[in-house]
Amino acid sequence: MVTIVREAREMSSLLTQRRRRGQTIGLVPTMGYLHEGHLSLVRSSRMENDVSVVSLFVNPLQFGPGEDLSRYPRNEARDRELLDGEGVDFLFAPAAETLYAPDHSTFVDEAALSLPLCGASRPGHFRGVCTVVLKLFNIVGPDRAYFGMKDYQQLQVIRRMVRDLSVPVTIRGCPLVREPDGLALSSRNTYLSPQERTSALALSSALEATARAYADGERSVPALLEGLRGRLTRDPLLQIDYAEIRDAESLEALDVVEAPAVVALAVRVGKTRLIDNAVIGG
Ligand code: PAJ
Repeated sequence: MVTIVREAREMSSLLTQRRRRGQTIGLVPTMGYLHEGHLSLVRSSRMENDVSVVSLFVNPLQFGPGEDLSRYPRNEARDRELLDGEGVDFLFAPAAETLYAPDHSTFVDEAALSLPLCGASRPGHFRGVCTVVLKLFNIVGPDRAYFGMKDYQQLQVIRRMVRDLSVPVTIRGCPLVREPDGLALSSRNTYLSPQERTSALALSSALEATARAYADGERSVPALLEGLRGRLTRDPLLQIDYAEIRDAESLEALDVVEAPAVVALAVRVGKTRLIDNAVIGG
């Protein structure tokens, strides 16, 4: 049975005991409402570590004003059952008041990879992500931490933070998990009406078409983007937030795809903002 822990200090001391016994610790940070994407990270952690910890915390610091913090889907009982089924050791689910002091005033700012894409449309988002993830690393002290390629920029930002701040943890990037019809799994998919769910398939199919165009020899970023954007503007339910092709590591803008590049999308489907991506040229 998964042990639920609410207090950071208790979490730290339980894991210190495990570490003293020579056990390795894997951490999977999440905001809950778990699906197969999250569970794929959990399975990787279970394979590679003696002890696996999943954190469940809807981090207010990474939501902007007017975003979906208050209506973000939650179902801790179901999450706990799923984690029981996976053989997870600890579910760390703190209350916001216990994780952040009322006068919390220290933040982690990654100042390059955080700027474009989601960083441009969600100011302060990655500051909130980095701050909470570093706190989780400090509380849990994991040997390895697992992040999905679904949030491609987030993974790169966290890798950079860990390198720059010499955090003693190995970051594992895990493949993006999709529904059989291509839709990237996301807790936010629950917001979609049936009609929006159908429209949302345009994201993965536009990415696939771009990957095909690349495979057929197209290397020009403006040409690839024209095709990509064209496929996302046909449906009035869709509104592009961004559609870009950038260097897969530095996230710098490109004119020509020469090395691995990420095709990154954020699209509003009705009121729901979805992200998706594909790496080409790898
Ligand atoms: P959340 O959106 O719950 O995602 C938790 C982890 O699951 C992230 O690493 C994310 O990339 C991964 N994930 C989500 N959907 C996935 C999919 N379809 N395939 C593969 N992996 C997937 O990302 C966050 O929470 C937060 O920003 C967090 C890192 C927990 C900090 O608050």
